[in-house]
Amino acid sequence: MKNIVILISGRGSNMEAIVRAGIPGARIVAVIANRPDAKGLDIARGFGIEAMALDHKTFAGREAFDAALATEIDRFAPDLVVLAGYMRILTDDFVRHFAGRMLNIHPSLLPCFTGLHTHRRAIEAGVKVAGTTVHFVTPELDSGPIVIQAVVPVLAGDDEDSLAARVLLQEHRIYPQAVRWFVEDRLRLDAAGRVELLDAPTGPEGW
Ligand code: GAR
Repeated sequence: MKNIVILISGRGSNMEAIVRAGIPGARIVAVIANRPDAKGLDIARGFGIEAMALDHKTFAGREAFDAALATEIDRFAPDLVVLAGYMRILTDDFVRHFAGRMLNIHPSLLPCFTGLHTHRRAIEAGVKVAGTTVHFVTPELDSGPIVIQAVVPVLAGDDEDSLAARVLLQEHRIYPQAVRWFVEDRLRLDAAGRVELLDAPTGPEGW
């Protein structure tokens, strides 16, 4: 059984998709938010998962908060830490501590549109496809080795909300997939920091 801790900041729909996927061999041991009002906390509790907030505003700074958060996460002895709409920049120490066992999802086709407001920027740039990326977390924001991506069209008349909704459907598909691969011991980083996926799918499952 692999223990998974999920970090959220808000709605928690990706967290919910992972929980609902019911991945064999995975146990979601805790959901932690950096905001006490994160809606996803109640969703997690509804599934009987231990859910708590560690309010970043009550800490002196980023280093102090991330150190406390790492201690809190370690209590659950996680094999994998999943960032699911976790909207905080991470300290290098925090990233190093969970190196090779921390995944993030970003709502763009990385390496395009790192950072915030991805959908608005995609529409402004006039791109014809958009999408989402699951990647291992490295110190540089939204830049770690890519595990899986999904592509959606950008349609005439799309606004930020309609594009975000189309992308989100794909997020809910590929994030559980990436977690499943990790739990099955098929996904890891090699010594050079590249993604290794055993028995990589050749069909749509791997897009
Ligand atoms: C998702 O679209 C996720 O990709 C994005 O925040 C949303 C969270 O939704 N994450 C980032 O932008 C991280 N850079 P959720 O709380 O419903 O899962």
